[in-house]
Amino acid sequence: MNYYVLTLFPEMIRSTVDISILGRAKANGLINVETVNIRDYSANKHNRVDDYPYGGGAGMVMEAEPVYRAVESVKAKLQTKPRVVYLTPQGRVLNQTIVEELAMEENLILLCGHYEGIDERVLQEAVTDYISIGDYVLTGGELGAAVLIDAISRFVPGVLNNQESAWFESMQDNLLEYPHYTRPEIWHEMAVPEILLSGDHKKIEDWRHEKSLERTKERRPDLLARSVRYHTIFYGTDIPSELPEKLTKAVTRYGEILDYNRRKLQKTRLSFGPSDVILFILGQDDPASTIDFREAFRNLKGRGTLLYFLSGRVPPDSEILLLEKGFLFAGTYLLTEQTISQEEEMSKIALEIRKKTDKMLANREII
Ligand SMILES: C[S@@+](CC[C@H](N)C(=O)[O-])C[C@H]1O[C@@H](n2cnc3c(N)ncnc32)[C@H](O)[C@@H]1O
Repeated sequence: MNYYVLTLFPEMIRSTVDISILGRAKANGLINVETVNIRDYSANKHNRVDDYPYGGGAGMVMEAEPVYRAVESVKAKLQTKPRVVYLTPQGRVLNQTIVEELAMEENLILLCGHYEGIDERVLQEAVTDYISIGDYVLTGGELGAAVLIDAISRFVPGVLNNQESAWFESMQDNLLEYPHYTRPEIWHEMAVPEILLSGDHKKIEDWRHEKSLERTKERRPDLLARSVRYHTIFYGTDIPSELPEKLTKAVTRYGEILDYNRRKLQKTRLSFGPSDVILFILGQDDPASTIDFREAFRNLKGRGTLLYFLSGRVPPDSEILLLEKGFLFAGTYLLTEQTISQEEEMSKIALEIRKKTDKMLANREII
């Protein structure tokens, strides 16, 4: 991952990215952080880069031309059109989904404003994304750029020792993480919860899920309202055995996997609510395509439950049937052999699903 930070104060960036995990990642060549001093692209002999605002008012405004030249200098070097992110309190407020989305890029230009901000015209011409790191005002965009670099780099393979920890943390599934404990077993007369010493992984995982829910309810009820539980249902005998688990793991930590080829399960009535989401993997030779798709949904019941098809095709008339059954068709994604074998491809689809789910849930709130 290559970051190009356009700033009037390069040392502010360097002082944050050269130490600890980011410093190690830089030294190992996993990330590359280049600072571009906007002043070097000043259009006048005094190296001035700001001027008084038209219309009057307090403060100075950064001129368009030096910013434009600085952006163009990076683009010319890359010979591609990278995303240009302007750090601003007027942008989309940063969250983990945005971080994951930006982590898919190979190159990112991060533009830091100062003083009253930057001439609007160059923003219109050069900027692709406006990102805020929170609802407060900073003196400059550099701390915001450092926050972005830190959060994104955690998703660059190899940056963290244990790759898993980038995916399963607070904010995954819109849940805060469960509490952590380490030695000693008893500290200030407080014992580590017994279950964590049991060695029973299934029970530990259930306990952690419960604690995540409890904690989010208590501390971030707003987040909990946007949290969903994913259920992967697979149906068809030609589905690669590792697919349901790989997909579920890429999308969520606390997913449920249901093998719908099992007759017993087909006969069980399964009800889902508005905070459930179904990932329906339909095999190519699934009985539903040749026999009766209606039959496949006989015992499935939703209540405003989002449903994705992971097969690249949508069975005929399925949207109407899904509506009758209380499901909302959310989208379809093709899982090829390549997607299944390449972690990066699977992550892309998983991110698409999470983004779409967030968006559909937000729209539902508005309605
Ligand atoms: C004092 S601020 C300018 C604020 C601008 N006058 C406004 O009200 O939108 C100077 C610079 O700090 C950065 N900045 C300030 N608050 C920020 C935030 N919450 N997130 C990201 N960048 C921020 C931006 O780059 C901005 O150009």
